[in-house]
Amino acid sequence: MKKVAITIGVLVVTACFLSGSVAFAGMPGADPDALWHYITKVSPYKEWSFWPDHQGMQPGRAPHGPLHKVYVNSCAVNSLRPPVQEGAIVVKENYSKAKELKAITVMYKVRGYNPNDGDWFWAKYTPEGAAKPFGKPTGCIGCHGTRSNNDFILVHEFK
Ligand code: HEC
Repeated sequence: MKKVAITIGVLVVTACFLSGSVAFAGMPGADPDALWHYITKVSPYKEWSFWPDHQGMQPGRAPHGPLHKVYVNSCAVNSLRPPVQEGAIVVKENYSKAKELKAITVMYKVRGYNPNDGDWFWAKYTPEGAAKPFGKPTGCIGCHGTRSNNDFILVHEFK
């Protein structure tokens, strides 16, 4: 039984690593327009998964708004422990109470980009894809940094 579990673990890691290394060629750098193109055209985030413990539309807190959905790519969802693997992307759709899409906030794991704060590239987009702020905003990092031991991720608990 133990052996099976280990084998599955290796396969999961390898799957992300392989798809990652193939995808890395086409993966964006730490650039808001390249990242927007990637998550809307190259690998549309609406085809990704949810965290097992955070599915579909969920209530949220300030500053992100009253309702949201959080999509995660395979490198994120296949990361069993923090920190998540390189290439992991988390896309959060932020909705008004009336379920109108207001903003899209994104975290993208880029190795070496910002080692002091978890190597996350942060961006907040309008629904049309205009980014502001982006990069290493002190606001995003300050608040999410309270959970640096959970890799700055708030809606999902790594076990
Ligand atoms: C004042 C605190 C605060 C600030 C500032 C903040 N966030 Fe968040 N963020 C949260 C909370 C709380 C959640 C959990 C979901 C919710 O309640 O909306 C969250 C969730 C997220 C998620 C989903 C992944 C996760 O952590 O679970 C993303 C992506 C995200 N925020 C991006 C950003 C970006 C980009 C910025 C800066 C533009 C930012 N956040 C600024 C508090 C904050």
